[in-house]
Amino acid sequence: MDLLLLEKTLLGLFVAVIVAIAISKLRGKKFKLPPGPIPVPVFGNWLQVGDDLNHRNLTDMAKKFGNCFLLRMGQRNLVVVSSPELAKEVLHTQGVEFGSRTRNVVFDIFTGEGQDMVFTVYGEHWRKMRRIMTVPFFTNKVVQQYRYGWESEAAAVVEDVKKHPEAATSGMVLRRRLQLMMYNNMYRIMFDRRFESEEDPLFVKLKALNGERSRLAQSFDYNYGDFIPILRPFLRGYLKICKEVKEKRIQLFKDYFVDERKKLSSTKPTTNEGLKCAIDHILDAQQKGEINEDNVLYIVENINVAAIETTLWSIEWGIAELVNHPEIQKKLRNELDTVLGRGVQITEPDVPKLPYLQAVVKETLRLRMAIPLLVPHMNLQDAKLGGPELRASASARTVQARHLGERWTIQPAHPEALHHCDEAEGVD
Ligand code: HEM
Repeated sequence: MDLLLLEKTLLGLFVAVIVAIAISKLRGKKFKLPPGPIPVPVFGNWLQVGDDLNHRNLTDMAKKFGNCFLLRMGQRNLVVVSSPELAKEVLHTQGVEFGSRTRNVVFDIFTGEGQDMVFTVYGEHWRKMRRIMTVPFFTNKVVQQYRYGWESEAAAVVEDVKKHPEAATSGMVLRRRLQLMMYNNMYRIMFDRRFESEEDPLFVKLKALNGERSRLAQSFDYNYGDFIPILRPFLRGYLKICKEVKEKRIQLFKDYFVDERKKLSSTKPTTNEGLKCAIDHILDAQQKGEINEDNVLYIVENINVAAIETTLWSIEWGIAELVNHPEIQKKLRNELDTVLGRGVQITEPDVPKLPYLQAVVKETLRLRMAIPLLVPHMNLQDAKLGGPELRASASARTVQARHLGERWTIQPAHPEALHHCDEAEGVD
């Protein structure tokens, strides 16, 4: 391209952008938008704030712009909410208005463009999927049905750790064994299945595909193509890998778990004393024509992502905090020894009798929240949040109120981090 043509093209582009902005300003409804850094055309605030929108960076920005501020990441509008009142507004008072989720190009692939439950927009499908998933996953009955299985998984971890007394001095990577435990806990609920060991080839394959899915979805590497659609062609290679991983993963769920379960329930009575596991309920809904086979597989996808690593990270943090706070660990041991007896394993009905343990768990979840920004919520229609107004399709990220203010400054090694465990008596 000669220089004159290049100059004319750039000039034309510049004029087109200015005219588009002017027209949208003249025709657009007047909104009292939330404050935020001043955006530049095309890139918005992306070049100023960068890719890493972690909760600490957003907390710093909230100090400057307030509890509700707007970032324009290329074409995407991102509203960051960080007061308890506004968080309640997004999650509860206007729960329906903000009930949709935003998806990006990669999440479109992994969720089949919202055929799942979590990353879908509010509407008929959203309500149906939540209704169908509640009974098999989110009731106390599920806890009572599966608690014996979970308790035996926990006991198996203790036994396995005891087999390595040398770990007391040389150390061990507990995560690997706890990961197997969490997969077993969730696969018992979903399919009434478990994996024998960390070397089980199916477990190894499943773990690798889930890990790859998380890595690809959580990476900043594709932000540019997501924020600035004209750059999307450069993401072709990345999106191809995402598609391959997605296909392999969904096929694995289908071949080794869903179809196996279908075969089993058609030939002999279900195990677990004839009780249905989660997938039986989901397949019932498919048989009734409420959902299709893809929806079934995306439910399995959602649970693999939502339930396992989140709980695993929280357990790891709990253990790390207790290792770093021997005095808290001692009090916790005292409570367990006094209430249950030395060496007696805890069971689910014991939990209400152990307020100190409950406080340790709550404090771990507070200070070491696995997903501090929650999962983004989105408004489908123009909406009002506190004072400011939001255009449709703004995505609200909730910086949890608990991460703002003084308490967030507590450092991991600081003994006060778990101080309220001292006041565990009477914790509700
Ligand atoms: C310590 C463990 C866990 C943590 C820290 C955690 C955290 C979260 C967070 C922050 C959200 C987003 C809430 C929102 O944006 O409104 C969420 C959603 C969700 N979680 Fe968990 N979670 C945990 C365990 C589990 C487990 C065990 C399951 C399944 C049995 C599960 C299933 C889900 C589902 C399905 C959603 C999506 C809900 C919806 O879109 O309506 N999570 N979780």
